[in-house]
Amino acid sequence: MSALKQRIKDRSVTLGVVGLGYVGLPLAVEKAKAGFHVIGFDVQKEKVDMVNRGHNYIGDVVNHDLEEIVRSGHLKATMDFAAVASCDCVCIAVPTPLDEHQQPDISYVRSSAESITPYVHKDMLIILESTTYPGTTEELLRPILEKSGLVCGVDFYLAFSPERVDPGNAIYKTRNTPKVVGGLTPECTDIAATLYEAVLEAPVHRVSSPAVAEMEKILENTYRNVNIGLINELAILCDRMGINIWEVIEAARSKPYGFQAFYPGPGLGGHCIPLDPYYLSWKAREFGFHTSMIESSMVINDRMPEYCCQRSMRALNEQKKALNGAKVLVLGVAYKQDIDDYRESPALRVIECLKHSGAEVSFYDPHIPRYRYENRQYEGLPALTADALEQSDLVIITTAHTAVDYDFVADHARLIFDTKNAMKNVAYRDNIRLL
Ligand SMILES: NC(=O)c1ccc[n+]([C@@H]2O[C@H](COP(=O)([O-])OP(=O)(O)OC[C@H]3O[C@@H](n4cnc5c(N)ncnc54)[C@H](O)[C@@H]3O)[C@@H](O)[C@H]2O)c1
Repeated sequence: MSALKQRIKDRSVTLGVVGLGYVGLPLAVEKAKAGFHVIGFDVQKEKVDMVNRGHNYIGDVVNHDLEEIVRSGHLKATMDFAAVASCDCVCIAVPTPLDEHQQPDISYVRSSAESITPYVHKDMLIILESTTYPGTTEELLRPILEKSGLVCGVDFYLAFSPERVDPGNAIYKTRNTPKVVGGLTPECTDIAATLYEAVLEAPVHRVSSPAVAEMEKILENTYRNVNIGLINELAILCDRMGINIWEVIEAARSKPYGFQAFYPGPGLGGHCIPLDPYYLSWKAREFGFHTSMIESSMVINDRMPEYCCQRSMRALNEQKKALNGAKVLVLGVAYKQDIDDYRESPALRVIECLKHSGAEVSFYDPHIPRYRYENRQYEGLPALTADALEQSDLVIITTAHTAVDYDFVADHARLIFDTKNAMKNVAYRDNIRLL
């Protein structure tokens, strides 16, 4: 058994986590809770300072857990990468967004690897967790890390292990979500898997290479993207045919096998599902391949905010009103229910589209009091009042937060366009239009 593997089992290693965001902070907390000493690295001073004060800023982290591990000295944070020298294992969880041409922006992975490289030492394990195209670990990360003069698979270990955290999920958290691990060599895989087995209460699935693990993650998210695209397309068709898509899905769900329910909505949001398929499409072109099914679903999903805007226009039109000049209250700007994250949220595009058509738009989100979009800040309503509902010509539900009282909304709103079927339990439905 390698010395590092034994030390992981003994919990005598120091673990580093690079990037203390939605993925990295919960990961660092779980490792510290499992008894390891953890150093978190970030380029944002505010995050580093907050961690060191034990102040939580991520919804999926329990405040008390963070306070406790910081107080006991199991977790500290720094901007100084020299501390990588004292880490035996480092996980990288930095952003992988798209650039202005919708192409992979891999600059955060590159720069974090460059910050680590001067401190790579013998017998060290490095794991990339950021979602990315197949080939990143071997083609991009490995050459940067080998600038240290050490050889991957001989002097240090390198693996990819995708992060699967589902923010807001009450059952599956970082701790109990199964992990997939693929290393550059069988030993790299084995040591990385040993680390996760020591930290998590979930099975670790080993694969033969980092590329398999990278592709596996993209498959998970593309699977969702394509199925949501299909159901959004069917929602538009069902509306034309006068069929309730939600009722259709409920009926299909009665089949105990071979069908998994996906639901329509105002479009895709978040840091993963709308973005990741672009990573694959971009890489596929290197192989002269067009991911046509994926691209079709992205076109459908991308058009949903505009479609919702058109449907809003139609709902107002039925009442002999125009969207131009109408007062519209948007309920929910988070990209999904019960979270405070609005990255890539389709609600923001719905709002822009409504404004573009001349609507006077306000918003309320119980988790997001204000948001920034294209360098401007927008303030939401401080509370959802009867007055605010009654004074709106139209209320659009773009996120199905459970903290909203939908009976109250139905009682006070004049007209509602529900893009999430959030009002499904409301009995009186004359003022409700459903996507
Ligand atoms: N958020 C999710 O639900 C989720 C789920 C699964 C996978 N992922 C993937 O995980 C990765 C991280 O996503 P996230 O949501 O945690 O992002 P995030 O933006 O919340 O956090 C990333 C952190 O990395 C820091 N950072 C950026 N460059 C750095 C550098 N050079 N050195 C050190 N720190 C740096 C940022 O300051 C930030 O705090 C992405 O690839 C994402 O696709 C995210």
